[in-house]
Amino acid sequence: MTDEVKQKSSLGARVEPSQDQKAAANAVRQMFSAIAPRYDLLNHVLSLNVDRYWWWRTARRFRYILCHADASVLDLCCGTGDMTLALYRQAGIGGASIVGADFAHPMLCRATQKSSGLPLQWIEADALQMPFAAGRFHLVTSAFGFRNLANYDAGLREIHRVLTADGEVAILDFGEPRGLLGKLYRFYFRRVLPAIGSMISGTSGPYAYLPASVARFPQPPEMLALMKTCGFREVNYTPYTFGVAGVYWGKK
Ligand SMILES: C[S@@+](CC[C@H](N)C(=O)[O-])C[C@H]1O[C@@H](n2cnc3c(N)ncnc32)[C@H](O)[C@@H]1O
Repeated sequence: MTDEVKQKSSLGARVEPSQDQKAAANAVRQMFSAIAPRYDLLNHVLSLNVDRYWWWRTARRFRYILCHADASVLDLCCGTGDMTLALYRQAGIGGASIVGADFAHPMLCRATQKSSGLPLQWIEADALQMPFAAGRFHLVTSAFGFRNLANYDAGLREIHRVLTADGEVAILDFGEPRGLLGKLYRFYFRRVLPAIGSMISGTSGPYAYLPASVARFPQPPEMLALMKTCGFREVNYTPYTFGVAGVYWGKK
């Protein structure tokens, strides 16, 4: 890894560049707690509903794990639970047991409401210090959450810890497409999205933070190198929708 990648990986996301890890995590938690009531609406409007396809595609890829009744799956940084619900739909009745974890209480409240009557478990937990035994999960997913961690290296090592010996990880997040589409997309993501997001949510912080956090997130080759450094093997990246999003995956 280059020095720049090492620095990025141990820094993770910062709402303010000068923040220390604890302050950064608190700021992220407060930000998501504040936008929780409008989070789903904003997500679907700003992604033109393509987010549903990304969650579905990621979940479908791991159906061979999800369909096993004795499999245990964690959706980390689950927010209001859409990725978790996509996993559940693939697992079906009699499939894997699925846990969603997030550290923003109001996001989990929405997840609980949306999944009423379903056998899903919601746990309030910090991704950097999870209350789970080592080797507990066969699959850990995280959709648009991992990028927000205050320390990517520590986040990957914690995911590695809670995975079974041959457990798998899938991290779905935004990318930065190249070429003409990339230019158009950057204009939308950096100018249009923050304006619409701020208007609907009534606060500007989260939607200025979003493009900034994507720009700071390691590029696919750096992220894959970091995953290897943290102990994952057979790592790979599949871009979705011309690279607007994509999933990183690998095995313990
Ligand atoms: C952009 S939302 C994604 C939610 C959901 N996975 C989705 O696809 O819509 C990011 C979520 O990550 C959570 N998060 C960020 N850092 C976290 C941490 N250290 N521990 C637990 N959750 C965290 C936030 O609270 C927020 O709910």
